[in-house]
Parts: sequence; structure tokens; C-alpha cells
Amino acid sequence: MTTKLLVRAGVFAVVCGAAASAWAQSVETLWERNCASCHGKEAQGGGAGTKSFLTDEYRKREYDRLFFDAIREGKADMGMSAFGETLSNEQIWGLVNHIRMLQDQAFRKGGGGPKRGSDGVYASKHASYKVEDVVRGLSTPWSVEFLTDGTMLIAERPGTLRVWKDGKLSEPVKNVPKSRETGQGGMMDIAVHPDYAKNGLIYLTFTQEIDEHPGKQDGHRGTHTVVVRGTIADGVWTTDKTVWQARPEHYMRSGLHFGSRIVWGEVIDGKRELYFCLGERGQANQAQDLGNPNGKVHRIFDDGSVPKDNPFVATEGAYASIWSYGHRNPQGLVRDLAGNLWDTEHGPRGGDELNAVVKGANYGWPLVSYGIEYNGSPTRVPWADVAGDKAKGKTIVNPVDVWLPSVGVCGLDVSTGGVFGAWKGDLFAGGLAGESVDRFRLAKDDAGAWKVVEREEILRGLGRVRDVRTGPDGAIYVALNGPDKVVRIVPAGK
Ligand code: HEC
Repeated sequence: MTTKLLVRAGVFAVVCGAAASAWAQSVETLWERNCASCHGKEAQGGGAGTKSFLTDEYRKREYDRLFFDAIREGKADMGMSAFGETLSNEQIWGLVNHIRMLQDQAFRKGGGGPKRGSDGVYASKHASYKVEDVVRGLSTPWSVEFLTDGTMLIAERPGTLRVWKDGKLSEPVKNVPKSRETGQGGMMDIAVHPDYAKNGLIYLTFTQEIDEHPGKQDGHRGTHTVVVRGTIADGVWTTDKTVWQARPEHYMRSGLHFGSRIVWGEVIDGKRELYFCLGERGQANQAQDLGNPNGKVHRIFDDGSVPKDNPFVATEGAYASIWSYGHRNPQGLVRDLAGNLWDTEHGPRGGDELNAVVKGANYGWPLVSYGIEYNGSPTRVPWADVAGDKAKGKTIVNPVDVWLPSVGVCGLDVSTGGVFGAWKGDLFAGGLAGESVDRFRLAKDDAGAWKVVEREEILRGLGRVRDVRTGPDGAIYVALNGPDKVVRIVPAGK
């Protein structure tokens, strides 16, 4: 009996082994089998006269495509064959993704990244700064927002709002709308209306749960994000109205990819534009479906009405509020000082994106991506021209910059200058897993394409960054999740 079992187990192991070699398409395996003999296990080079890939030069963004093309077409004169004949475009991109990961590992091992002196001061390109604690005792803070007098509002994902004023944190605001914390969802963004002084209005996004909806299966209750506005007076919330909500059939069970930021635009005919973003809830194809609100940036007015010049108002079945689509999980949204709209969104493994968001554009998910699957298998390429049938006939807008490897990009704001005059107009992007904040300076080139003029990691390793917000005085506030607190970046001299 025992022998039989063992034999069976042996056969099973052999079968599994064979299956594994046929299916093990992880980028690590591909690298080891096809590339490491010459380029080295860590891409350090050395074999067959190869150079190290672990240099500052090779970390530049332009090598994404240069490397992809070099691997596909080979370097015949130097003894590297064209892998385009034996590997798919997805596998070739996966190898570039892998080189990017090895580069980052070597960079971190070598002590790369923001440097804090023994006096707690960070030195950077334009400013020296330090980080100080502002608010502790929070529970999964998700967003922070300011009134002009410096009062800070804080949303906590479990479902609470708190007010921080004159150095004191309030009890939870009473009577806030009931949200449902489920996976990555819960109480999410807060946005104070630009005319708050006149109308007192505060907008929230949160996960709402409903009992009855057409998609209901197995008795499950569905959730979706709603945009609600109201007022806070004497520590009590009063709801004014629901400004946006999905059709009942789109409420669903998933606890993934809620996205969810609110950003203000211009006043048009007396109404204020409001942009907000939704993730694709882990259902990638919904991002391409204009009849589904997920994986989109939306544009409405502050009263919930839909602008008549939205790009898909005349498209049958489409959500009229859609502004752009093909987004995966946008957790950062901001308008820069010149009025350009930007989002940051999570890619899969490798490939978080910074996008310049324009009317009606398709940002490509899940047809193209810089990322690979979480199990390491490469299934996509970043560019429509090499994506084959998937992207045929589609115009896809590529990100202006990416994070390779991913940092779990979350929270985005623009510096208004103030105490950091030299940073005025720069964007600041947070990262959850990366525990990072990156500064971007962006400009259009002569042909009108966005270019990264400067990119600098200014924080690393203080905690998971959930939100980044410029305070009224120009200090950069960072909401951390683990440890749960709000810190701020202030000039070193202060
Ligand atoms: C037989 C040895 C050999 C193998 C195997 C090999 N390469 Fe190369 N590769 C070279 C040489 C030699 C060069 C040119 C010198 C250099 O750039 O280091 C090169 C160049 C490159 C370049 C271009 C660098 C540049 O400057 O643009 C990339 C990218 C690259 N290889 C990736 C790969 C990947 C990925 C694999 C596995 C699929 C691979 N190579 C397999 C030898 C090899």
C-alpha cells in the first residue's frame, strides 16, 4: 500500500514537473534559461563580453523600447541572436520588466534613494526638508483635505471622518453616510468645494452596499462607489444629495480596485466641473466597456448633472459621465496649476502609471500594460504597435512615466509653492508598497508630447503612503497607513 502510494506520488511529481517546464513562463525562468549565461543572473554582465545593465544610463526610461527592440532583433554583430523568432513579444517585454526589477534591486542594495542625514534633514535637488509627525491615532487614513484656514479633514477607510484643528484631532464626525469597508473599499476621498466659504459643501466618495440589485447572486450584497455631498457643522454631517451613483446592475461583490479620487475643474455656466475616477474592481475588461462605469475617469458638474460636451454622451449605452477609459486602478488624480489633468494608477506587477488624462482617450488597460501577472508570467506589452490583434485599430495613449517595479502608486497632488517655492507646479505621487513619494516636473516638448523634466524620489521607507496633499502653506502632507498617521514635509530650516 505504502509502496503503491509512493509510486503514485512519484508519477504525480514527474507529471507535475513536466507540466511545470511547459507552463513555467515566469520572467525569472525565461531570464535564467535564455539570458543569464551571457548577461549574468543579476544582469551584472560579464559573459560573452556583455556590459552590466545595472548603470544609471541603462535605468533611463528610453531603454524600455530600445531593450525590447534589441532583444527582438538581436545584436548579430555582437553575438546575440534575435529572440523574436523564439520568444513572444509578451515574453520579450517580460524580460525587460525583469531587467528593470534587477536594476532597482541593485540600486537599493547600493544605497540608492532619498538620503536622510543624521540631523534628520533630507537634501534634494531644489530643497532640503525634514519630516514631522502631525496626526497620530488614526485608523487606516485614506485621504486628507484642507479648508483654507488650515483645518484638515481626514477620511478613514473603516467609515469615519475626523477633523484636525489647532493641533487637536476630533472624535469621529457624527451621522456620516454609511459606507462598507470591503477589501480595498470603504470611506475614501474627501474634497472641499472650491466655493466652500459660500456653500459649505464637502464631497465624499465611499463604497455603498445595497441589498437588492439585478446582478445579485447567492444572496450576496453588492457594492459600488457613490459620490455624495453634504456639510459638517458642530461635528455633525448632513447629507445634501448623492451626486453620482452607478446603475443598480453594476453593483458587484469584488473588494478590489476602487480607485476613487475627486478633483475640481473650471466653472462652466455657473457650475463647477468635478472629475472622479473608478478602478475596474478586478474585472479588467470592464475598463474597455463604455457601458460600465469601472476603470474610468468621470466628469460631472458639482450638482451631479452631466456636461453636454462629455465625449460619450451620444454613444448608445455608455455612461454619459465617462471622460476617459482603459484605466486599471487610479488612486491618484490631480489638475496641475495650468489645468492639465493627471492620474496615477496601479499596474499589475511592474507598470504603475502616470497619465496625462485627456477627453475621450483610451489608456489601454487591459490590452496593453508595462506590467506582468503577479505570478511572474508575461501576458502583455506596453505598446499598441506590437500588441497584435488585441489593440488592432485602437488608439491607445501611453503613460508619460511608469514605475518599474511598482510602488503601488496612491495619492497625487501638485505643489502650490508657498514654503517650497522651488517646487511650485511639481507633482508629488505616493506609493503604498514602495513607501515612497516621488516628485515630477513635467513639460511639453516642441511636438506637444509630455516629457519628464525631473523625477526624484523624495521619501522612502516611512510607511505605506495612502495620500499626498499640499497644505495651505505649501508643506506636503502625507497620510501613512501602517503606521497610521499623517506626517508633513517641511523646509529643513523651520
Ligand atoms: C550568447 C550571449 C548572449 C545571450 C544568450 C543573450 N545576450 Fe543579450 N547581448 C549579448 C551581447 C554580446 C550584447 C551586446 C553587448 C552589450 O550590450 O552588453 C547583448 C546586448 C543585449 C541588449 C542590448 C543592450 C543595449 O545596449 O542596447 C539587451 C537588452 C540584451 N542583450 C538582452 C538580452 C536578453 C533579455 C537575453 C535573453 C533573452 C539576451 N540578451 C541573451 C549577448 C547575449
